[in-house]
Amino acid sequence: MKFSPTLAALATWLPAASATIYFAGVAQSSGEFGAWSPTQTRGTGLPGRFGVDYAFISNSGIDTMIDTHKVNLHRVAFLLERMCPLSYGLGAKFNETHFDHFKEAIDYITITKGAYAILDPHNYMRYNDPSSQPFSGSVIGNISDPTAATTAQFAAFWGELARRFADNEKVLFGLMNEPHSMPSQLVFDNLQAAITAIRATGATNMIITPGNAWSGGHYWTKGGDEANSKWIHKLVDPIKNLAVDIHEYLDEDFSGGHLACTQDPVPNLAGVTSWLRHHGLKAFITEFGGSNTTECTSMLNGILDYMAENDEYIGWTAWAAGPFWGPNSPCCTDQRQYGSLEPGSKASDGGPGLYATVWLPVMSKKVPAKLQWSGPANVMGGVLTERV
Ligand SMILES: *[C@@H]1O[C@H](CO)[C@@H](O)[C@H](O)[C@H]1NC(C)=O
Ligand SMILES: *[C@@H]1O[C@H](CO)[C@@H](O)[C@H](O)[C@H]1NC(C)=O
Ligand SMILES: *[C@@H]1O[C@H](CO)[C@@H](O)[C@H](O)[C@H]1NC(C)=O
Repeated sequence: MKFSPTLAALATWLPAASATIYFAGVAQSSGEFGAWSPTQTRGTGLPGRFGVDYAFISNSGIDTMIDTHKVNLHRVAFLLERMCPLSYGLGAKFNETHFDHFKEAIDYITITKGAYAILDPHNYMRYNDPSSQPFSGSVIGNISDPTAATTAQFAAFWGELARRFADNEKVLFGLMNEPHSMPSQLVFDNLQAAITAIRATGATNMIITPGNAWSGGHYWTKGGDEANSKWIHKLVDPIKNLAVDIHEYLDEDFSGGHLACTQDPVPNLAGVTSWLRHHGLKAFITEFGGSNTTECTSMLNGILDYMAENDEYIGWTAWAAGPFWGPNSPCCTDQRQYGSLEPGSKASDGGPGLYATVWLPVMSKKVPAKLQWSGPANVMGGVLTERV
């Protein structure tokens, strides 16, 4: 329908939609690569060779995403076992060589390109054995496991990382990727200890908190006393710049492993959305994705529209781009090699990758024309402008 002048005039009298997306972009997944072992051999890929076994970003991929697609957010994965080698233990002592590579990527996104970056320790609330992620490694804070890193060590790690990025308002702190299969009390204790340690440094950067059960949006209010909806709003951030980090896949078991999209995100997110509203909380969906089927296209449009229409949602990153995917796929293909969201990605048969079949026709179209390009990331919002 052509928008008539009469309707346009009328529209100015209608209340403006309050829902706003401030941040949109992709997850950069490759920094956590190279540590997996089919035989679960501990230490595989550690420390790993930067640029050979893993890398954080490709500058040209970031350029395309920011300059061409006008995205302003990248979530950058790294492994705790590389930042804090096992010989040091989890804590405030970093591998400085590794940190320098990571900081170079974060500075490229935030300083050179002027976008925002989420730091993403991709560790499932575990530390010491990433060889069979997401299940291997000791659960952080498990006092029954003498080899486990403690809650205090996790807090010391975050205090140090926060101190190093406190002067960069374009850096957001993603506390942990997808805690799972552990008591929600311990998830809560670890998260609270990290928040307290971050704020003790004076850092005011936005923090985003995951939940238990893989941060699944559809499951947020489920699980009885273990439900995230019983815990996560109790986290205390003294400066109230804490948002919620939700993941939501569209396949039958919400794993992102399958090609077929059968889980409609709109009804599935209703519970977590009303919980967010009830507690006055804002959220990001930092992992979602789908293949190039008709159903996935429809549901991806559905989840992107849903975030745009509900003011509890202030940002998103799609899963996933990254320099090391090659023809492999980050999600949603039943192990077929359809490539990734990395610009220029190709499928193994030389056909178009998910960048061409999902990012370009579907996701990139939902990047709002105006996003936040300056000032601190804050749950109260910021100034929206077009990128020039
Ligand atoms: C620190 O990282 C560098 C670069 O990846 C690596 O060569 C070195 O072995 C690492 N040190 C430790 C103690 O893991
Ligand atoms: C904690 O450690 C004990 C001893 O290794 C183990 O039996 C238990 O499963 C661990 N708990 C979690 C949540 O991993
Ligand atoms: C999805 O992309 C792959 C890889 O390019 C291609 O082989 C397949 O035919 C596409 N499927 C659909 C439904 O477009």
